[in-house]
Parts: sequence; C-alpha cells; structure tokens
Amino acid sequence: MKKISAPFFLLFSLAFFFAHPLFSQKTSVKEIDRRVEELLAKMTLDEKIGQLNQVPGDISTGTDVAKDDLLSQIKAGKIGSVLSHTNFDNKIVMQRAAVGTRLGIPLIFGFDVIHGYKTIFPIPLAQAASWDMAMIENIERIAAEEAGADGQNWAFAPMVDIARDPRWGRVMEGAGEDPFLGSRVAEARVRGFQGDDLGKNTTLATCVKHYAGYGFAEGGRDYNTVDMSEQRLREIVLPPFQAAAKAGSATFMNAFNTLNGVPASMSKHLVTDILRNEWGWKGLVVSDWNSFGETIVHGAASDDADASAKCLSAGSDMDMAGGTFLRGLKKALESGRVTQAQIDNAVRRVLRLKFMLGLFDDPFRYLDPKRREATLEKPEYRLAAREAAAKSMVLLKNDGGILPLTPESPFKNITIIGPYADSRDHKDYMSFWTLGIGNPDYDTTKIVTPAMSLKSTLEEMGFQVTVTEICLDAACNEKDLSVAMKATTSSDLVIVCVGERGIDCGESRSISDISLKGNQETLLRIAARGNKPTLMVLFNSRPLVFPWADENVQSILVAWQSGYETGNALADVVTGKVNPSGKLPITFPRSVGQVPLYYNHLNTGRPQSQMGQMWTSGYLDAPSTPAYPFGYGLSYTTFSYSNLTVSKSQPKMGETVEVSVNVTNRGNVAGEEVVQLYIHDVAADIARPVKELKGFEKIKLNPAESRTVTFKLTPEELSYWNADLKFKADPGKFKVFVGGNSRDVKEAEFELMP
Ligand code: BGC
Repeated sequence: MKKISAPFFLLFSLAFFFAHPLFSQKTSVKEIDRRVEELLAKMTLDEKIGQLNQVPGDISTGTDVAKDDLLSQIKAGKIGSVLSHTNFDNKIVMQRAAVGTRLGIPLIFGFDVIHGYKTIFPIPLAQAASWDMAMIENIERIAAEEAGADGQNWAFAPMVDIARDPRWGRVMEGAGEDPFLGSRVAEARVRGFQGDDLGKNTTLATCVKHYAGYGFAEGGRDYNTVDMSEQRLREIVLPPFQAAAKAGSATFMNAFNTLNGVPASMSKHLVTDILRNEWGWKGLVVSDWNSFGETIVHGAASDDADASAKCLSAGSDMDMAGGTFLRGLKKALESGRVTQAQIDNAVRRVLRLKFMLGLFDDPFRYLDPKRREATLEKPEYRLAAREAAAKSMVLLKNDGGILPLTPESPFKNITIIGPYADSRDHKDYMSFWTLGIGNPDYDTTKIVTPAMSLKSTLEEMGFQVTVTEICLDAACNEKDLSVAMKATTSSDLVIVCVGERGIDCGESRSISDISLKGNQETLLRIAARGNKPTLMVLFNSRPLVFPWADENVQSILVAWQSGYETGNALADVVTGKVNPSGKLPITFPRSVGQVPLYYNHLNTGRPQSQMGQMWTSGYLDAPSTPAYPFGYGLSYTTFSYSNLTVSKSQPKMGETVEVSVNVTNRGNVAGEEVVQLYIHDVAADIARPVKELKGFEKIKLNPAESRTVTFKLTPEELSYWNADLKFKADPGKFKVFVGGNSRDVKEAEFELMP
C-alpha cells in the first residue's frame, strides 16, 4: 500500500480531525460513544445484523400504507434503515414500530435528494455550470430543510463522480469532468446538507457516492467495468471524495462497478486502505442498491456468505436493498470468515450516525406534521430555484447579438416552437430523479415551462409572440415539420426549444448517440431558413452534439433540465434581466466519435495541430478539438484580461506562488465572469496534463470596471501523484494560464527551484 507523503498526510489528518462534525464536539462524541457501547452490549447478533440492513420503501406509488411485511420486519428488528420511502404518515408508523422493539432503536430514512426535494432545482451538472459555490450550498440547505421536514434523515448525495463520457446517463448527477471544480462543488454540497451541526433537524447526513470510479464505465454503459491506473484514480477520481470526506460527510456509498477487477463494494484498497486509513475518515459506508449481492454476479463471490464476508472485511458497513447480509452474514461469522469485532464495528457506525442525528433522543424529530406543512415549497425556495436556473444557463453562441431581447430589438413577431417549448411531461424539465421525489400530487402547474413565462414576458415588452405546440412525441414527425414551416413564415425571430427528454437521463440511461433525436435538426433548419434569426434553447442533461446548429444558428443557449423555474429563469436570461454567466463544467464534443474528449488530457508525443495532419494523434475525418471547451460560456458583455503576473519567477519548492490578473468589463452592461486559473507542469517526472484547473473566482463587474484577481498556487497544487505514487512536486518550469475558459487564455511561467 503506497502512502500519501508524510507532511500532507499529517496536515490533512489534523485538519480533518478538528473539522469533522463527527469529532467537532469532543465531549458529546465521547458521550455518544459511551451510549453506543452501552447499547451494543445489549444487542443480539440478529439485532446487530438487522441494523446493517437497509430496505426500500415503496417508491412507486408513494402512498402505500407501510407494507405489512416491511412493518413486521421492522418489529422483528431486522431493519436498521428504510430508503426511498415517500409517504410521511407511513414513516411515522414505521418509526413507531422501530421504537417499540426490544431496544427501541430508531430507523434512519434515506432518500435520493439529487436536485431539490419538493422544490426542484436545476440538475447537478447544471448547478456546477454556475461555478457559484455559495448558491450550490444554499440549494442543498433548502433541499435539506424540505427533506428533513418530510421525514428524511439521510441524503444519498452528493454524487461526486467525475465523468468524461456524455453517453453515460449519470453525467447529469455530477459536477462534470474536472476534479478541482468537482471538489469545490462536493464541499459546498456537504456544507449545504449538513450545515455545521448534524444534530439539527433541518440538516441531513450526506452520502458521498459512488465510491469509486463509477463515472469511468467503459463505453459509457452504466454499471460497466472500470479499469484505470492508480495514478489516474488518485488524480482524477478521488479528489472530490477526499474533499467531501474532509468537509465532514457522515457517510459514503460504494459504487456498482468493478475497479481494476475488484467490485468496489468489496475493495479493501478503496474503503479501508484509502478512505479509512489514509484519510482517517470515521463514518459509515453503505452499499449501492444490492451491490453486495452483485459481487456474486460479477463472479467475485460465491454466495451470500462469501459476499457478506468480502464486503464487510473491505470496510463496508450497511447493505442497501439486497438482503445479502441478512442471509449471509451469520453464516460468514459461523464459518470464521468474519469476526464478531468486524460486525460490531459496522454496527457502531450505524448507531453513531443515529445518535449524531439526534434520533435516539427524539425519533420523531423529523416527523412533525406542522413543520412539514410550514416548510415544503416555501415561496422563497422558488426564488432560489429561479436564481439557480438562470445562473446555470450557458450561452454558447450569440452572433449578431440577437440576445438579449429588449424593447430596442429589431424583431416584432416571435415564434416559440419545439418539443420543449411547452412540454406537458414535467420530467422533461426535471429529470429522472424527480420520479421518486414524493409528490404523488405532482401537477404540471408547478412547473413554469418556457412558453408559459417567456410568452407573457415578451408580450409585456411589446413583442407579438406565438407558441406553436408541435413535436409532442419529442421527436418531431413530418406533420410537425409542416406546421413549423407555416408557423415560422411570418416571424422575425424563432426560438426553437430542442434537447432530450427528462426520462432519458440519469441512472441506466446511457445512450450511444448524443445528437439531437428525431427531426429536431430539421426543425432548426426550417426555423433558420433564409438566415432567419434563430435562438436554439437546449434542454439537456449531458453534452449533446448539434454540428449544423453550431454553424448555422445565430444564438445557442444551454438551459439544461432546470427544474420548477425553468421558464422564468429562461425569460430572465433571454431578456437580459440576468446576464448569463454559466460556464461549461464538461466539454461539448463535436461528435460522439470523439468521446472521451476532455480538456485536461496528456500531450501525446505527436500532438495534432490541424485535422488530418498525418503521423499525429487525431482523426482523418474529424478535428480533435471540441465544439465548446471546458469552462466556456458567453455573457452579454465581454471581459478582457491583462497584466498576468506571477509573484516569483523562481520560487523554491514548498513556497506558495501568487498569480494575478486584471479583468475588465468592456461592454455596456454589468456581468459576472468566472476567472479560471490553469497550470501545466512542463517537464515533470511523468507526463502531465496540458492544462489543469487550479483556481477560479466568479466576479461581478460593472461596465468599464476592472478588478485584479489573485490566486494562490500552494505547494499542494503544484504536486501530483508520480510514478512511485508519491504526491510531490518536481522542480522545473511551470506554465500558468488565466482566462474565461480553458482554451482562450493568457500565459505566463515560473520555474520551481529545488
Ligand atoms: C443508485 C444510487 C441511489 C440508490 C438508492 C442506486 O441504484 O445508484 O445512486 O442512491 O439507488 O436509490
């Protein structure tokens, strides 16, 4: 087992010890541990195994009376946690049953709180596009308040999987392709959910997932094999997990995949060696849905007992939805494959979490109907949803300055058209994850569609607006196209709402073709015929490719799946009430054949400078550059960068280097810019990425205003995992890049002296 180099490890462990909520109040932690031990001493083996068993509620209807079976198992002490249960009253029934058992151990309720709970925010990938950590933290605070008021104690979030493959449906749940941005987002989400005190009933325990490597499924096929070097694992995949651990996430979730041949749930390397021993993290690890049982399907365990022994021994604690521990753990103990002490340790972690959440002191503290009534869907939450959606949108193109639409714009008649102009399927604006949100009375009036808000807003400004409802099957058939032809004839501007269906993204929603489905491109061609000014608004969960639109459509706005307030936020951006400031957290390729395409790649020995150049690394039939690079996004103003300076041209190893740049707003309107800092280690001991994000700051500038932004490059940021798996910096030349995206940058350099 290779270790993190000593000074960093020490610093990290100390910081972690003091920062972690589990250990922030030493006396109460001592008291919790005392109570855990007292309880543990009274428990039978069956009761212990019951605490390690997590069982699904009924997520399909959300209204069932707690199933007799579920209830009798709770009464028999066979269940420690219930997940994905949506009915509030039933949770009270279940909790009563748990509290009525011999030892009265309360249940803990877990739920996938992915982008809001009742108030639906933009999908996580969209939120990451805001690069606004305070906003993301606030969203999770709201989600925790709502979920907590509805009886949930434990959020299966944040999902921090770095992903480079848009074919993978779960790209939408993460923060994109970059470990630095991903780490900042992970911390913000943990802070938002857990606050500074897990003991409050307005906070939820987080569950960082999916540990680890899940985002690198081969071919982008969900659940597929992951095989990568330890160096890539540590450099790209693990940083957001480590950041979340350091921020105090109470729990972790295993991943479904194998990593280098070992199912992640039974990976001692991941769970014990790295997470628990190297990082010193003390929380609970839960499996993913039946991922203990699936070790048998992977062919890495022979039966339930073997799977139980291997997963528990790896350091994983709780079995989600598989019943593997229930069937196999006792046998594993009896046959000597696990020890009583190992089982006790896992049970301790479950009990400790329940104590920390205050569930022993008051098992119903998250189940107060009055608080529920007063909390869910507060108007102020909707305002936050609107702000978040507007801040997440990314303007990719604005040729001729079509946007923003103002009373001075040279258009009169506007047509809003396309499958996502006014979709009646709420999930189209909210994603697959809202299926289980526990709102059986979901009605589409809760969602503001683009047509609803944009139409009235533009009409109030004096435009004549027609919404043409077509493409109800989302694909646009021939009849839709002929309607579109007529509808757009007399308009001066067409707003075409295209993209992908909400139910086509998320878990188990991998696709092999990331272009616009059906006849959506033809619809764009019809709208833009004769060079008619056209705005394409994209409703998407992942990078999609739309080469024709890139060339021919004047304005392109990425609106993502933006939740309840999609339409209002879109109106805010289109009319300039909000100046777009989103930046892509993931590369948009030109074609699916380029995948994986990411900005922080290594150089080859034969980098390509132009398409088709022989004997270089590239394609004969496609450029190797993306359609839109990581970090990219336009504003209604422009920003210039000048005076890039590095504080020391020859810093010594161990010194911090300061990098400053002046940013000026050159346009006529105020705007926000995400100033991004990248480095390149020019001659290290191994090949290093051509660029690596090492800092960013989102700033607001009025017209003609300038600001100097200063970044600190610490020794840690100049270090990397080398061939011997030591985390260290090499002396030598470094390049520094600063700009508003990963491609268009100013450049400086320094030399790190031995
Ligand atoms: C997903 C997890 C989720 C769990 C519980 C699994 O299928 O991979 O992300 O938390 O289900 O719903």
